[in-house]
Amino acid sequence: MRDAAPTTIYLKDYTPFGFTVDDVHLTFDLSPNATRVTSRITFSPNPDAADHTFFLHGEELKLIRASIDGQPVLPNVTDKGLTCDVPNAPFVWEAEVEVDPAGNTALEGLYMSNGMYCTQCEAEGFRKITYYPDRPDVMSTFTVRINGTEKVMLSNGNPTDQGDGFAEWHDPWPKPAYLFALVAGDLINHPDRFTTKSGKDVELNIWVRPGDEGKCAFGMEALKKSMTWDEDVYGREYDLDVFNIVAVDDFNMGAMENKGLNIFNSSCVLASPETSTDDNFERIEAIIAHEYFHNWTGNRITCRDWFQLCLKEGLTVFRDAQFTADMRSEPVKRIRDVIDLRGRQFPEDNGPLSHPVRPESFVEINNFYTATVYEKGAELIGMLKTLVGDEAYAKALDLYFDRHDGDAATIEDWLQVFADATGRDLSQFKRWYSQAGTPRVAVSEDYSEGIYTLTLKQSTPATPGQDTKQPQVIPVAVGLLGPNGDEVAETRILELTEAEQSFTFDGLAAKPTPSILRGFSAPVILEHDTSSAQRAFLLSHDTDPFNRWDAGRSLARETLLTMITDGAAPSGAYLDGVQAVLRDDTLDPAYRALMLGLPGQSELAAALHDGGTTPDPQAIWSATETLRQAQAQHMQDLLPRLHGEAQVSAPYLPDADQSGRRALGSAALSLITRLDGGALAAAEYAKADNMTLQLSALGCLIRAGKGEAELQAFYDQWKDDRLVIDKWFGLQVSLADPEHTATVAQTLTQHADFNWKNPNRFRAVFGALAMNHAGFHHASGTAYELLAEWLIQLDPVNPQTTARMCSAFQTWRRYDEGCQTLIGAQLDRIAATPQLSRDVTEMITRIRG
Ligand code: ARG
Ligand code: ZN
Repeated sequence: MRDAAPTTIYLKDYTPFGFTVDDVHLTFDLSPNATRVTSRITFSPNPDAADHTFFLHGEELKLIRASIDGQPVLPNVTDKGLTCDVPNAPFVWEAEVEVDPAGNTALEGLYMSNGMYCTQCEAEGFRKITYYPDRPDVMSTFTVRINGTEKVMLSNGNPTDQGDGFAEWHDPWPKPAYLFALVAGDLINHPDRFTTKSGKDVELNIWVRPGDEGKCAFGMEALKKSMTWDEDVYGREYDLDVFNIVAVDDFNMGAMENKGLNIFNSSCVLASPETSTDDNFERIEAIIAHEYFHNWTGNRITCRDWFQLCLKEGLTVFRDAQFTADMRSEPVKRIRDVIDLRGRQFPEDNGPLSHPVRPESFVEINNFYTATVYEKGAELIGMLKTLVGDEAYAKALDLYFDRHDGDAATIEDWLQVFADATGRDLSQFKRWYSQAGTPRVAVSEDYSEGIYTLTLKQSTPATPGQDTKQPQVIPVAVGLLGPNGDEVAETRILELTEAEQSFTFDGLAAKPTPSILRGFSAPVILEHDTSSAQRAFLLSHDTDPFNRWDAGRSLARETLLTMITDGAAPSGAYLDGVQAVLRDDTLDPAYRALMLGLPGQSELAAALHDGGTTPDPQAIWSATETLRQAQAQHMQDLLPRLHGEAQVSAPYLPDADQSGRRALGSAALSLITRLDGGALAAAEYAKADNMTLQLSALGCLIRAGKGEAELQAFYDQWKDDRLVIDKWFGLQVSLADPEHTATVAQTLTQHADFNWKNPNRFRAVFGALAMNHAGFHHASGTAYELLAEWLIQLDPVNPQTTARMCSAFQTWRRYDEGCQTLIGAQLDRIAATPQLSRDVTEMITRIRG
């Protein structure tokens, strides 16, 4: 875990492993502090490799014995692995090691969560289970025997035998070690079945701790929908007799796509109307789909090396977004994804942690499971699809599955498939994978004699290690509206390939209003100096639902920025425009709820910084509060009607329709609370019979400085439900007044239920602290100090979760000298901690710059 001098790994240094693995047999003798793992592996010299050094990864293992072809050997063991002299012909390697699952708090490798054994091997956790070439390009079939007393003992593939004290599994599909999984515990299943389109019967199970069996039905439905969807849309069938999902309470990430045995953070699979919000349901449905879709994009076709992570993650995020759009509302899903991209990926891409979608080097790969690799990676797939068209995309994907099934592939392979299927030269497109940073696209217009000219100019600011950028291929979807609001030119994809380029539209009777970057056709920042009248015009007339929403969003951004910098009053154009949209009952309530949203405070800070102004978090917070108050007053008469939308008389369903209505009703309730001081919210809290309404009412009360009694009642009601108590912790911090945010967080860390070693609980408090912009960046610096103190405490226990939370500091260079000095001191303090993990060392080094 700790390195004197952490080494940097480079993409350019890739070489194949010197051996192929033909077959892996593993035997586990389970015991909490001393599990024995015996491996029997057949290796053959790899004719494609130049170097035949026999090196097996292995960390934190106690080697008991090793042999080659039955003869005992004494390998040369270090804290990274072992080397050994081996024959120049196929041979059988056997090793027995001992590991300590109960003592494994890092939650990587084999560990225990609430008395159950489980594993997390991606990216490099298998080397903590046994000695092995732990790299994704080494693929093999696995046979696993588990000896133990647990009621349920699972591994990958199909069950082959089980009896008193043992279970055996065989996975016929060759896979890399990162997809290995083992689970053993006293679990209960929620069973179901699925028949694939070719008629294969598959057994499905969701395994949970006793007591959670009532929270599996929704996840199971989501799984079956995902299986059907992948057959219908991508022609991909499931390929084993069983598909198991297990819920685990202690988990560093959301979920993991282990072959035939997906392991989930319990927060990403367990759901019930009483304990989960509509947003939780939507997220669970998406994550179940994501992990299931990995069976083809990730497992059947995997990555050659970890630099290719976006090959599986970008594509699988893109696929799960398509799925959610199909299950729910396409524009609503798109808007939510863009809010997320701007909120998480843009700050990363425009700060010290900026890295290409396919990074070229890393110290700790766990630090590269980022919004850039995942979400920008998915945007790249979307752009490719836009550029080649839907039909060609489908053809290219068929070719990809045909050509690369069973492979450990690269981005070059992926792009070659598109080149071959479409005849297109994708060499310029490839820059999207290697150039970091968010491109800016500046727009200028000209109109004369019926011809409208749009000039687009692209540039990308320098990012760490990349001073100059080449022009990228940017698909810009554009439509034109005439003076009366009619569409005079339908959406057309402009391919911006040069630094500057003009596009003309002719036959126009009058100067049109352009609707640019429809559907957010590329992950760029549009710079278009246009009047608020033009934005308001788009807000009322644009036929593209995304751009219509974005027109409202840019009006909001603009008014907030002038409120902050010039002390201006809230813009009437914005308030009137949004009110008109909200009055339109023909529009989807979910869409109208999004219209009420405001740009995040961190996003405003970025916009100020971009424009050359040092952001003041307190001023940003005040302006946001003022605009909220103005919205409430402006829409006073409309709010009760909007709130009424949430009164669903039918039984609760977490579907798009009902959840959209509740989202609108809740947004209205929060504005009403600004007018009535919380009277309606208190009444709503008292009668809420689902978590969505209960939590939104509680949030309104907290924001109004009320709700102490309700907070206590909420705790008493839910104290035995860990996932609900996570919400209880998080809500108090995320909604705390900036003056008190750090104190609220600090007090919560003293609470008896603050199990800081549980990643969900730690993130509930500190994720919320980092997200409370004005509270986190309070001039006193107490929030910085509190976070640093806890990061230092968590690092020796769980470096991966600690390292992820370090990104709270990534935007520090935006703020004034006072903030920078305070954050700088905390970064120095963390960096100076003895024995700091490789994970956190890398993060802090990059953030400090
Ligand atoms: N492959 C998993 C997913 O995208 C995430 C695993 C992340 N693991 C990690 N150690 N960072 O669903
Ligand atoms: Zn994934």
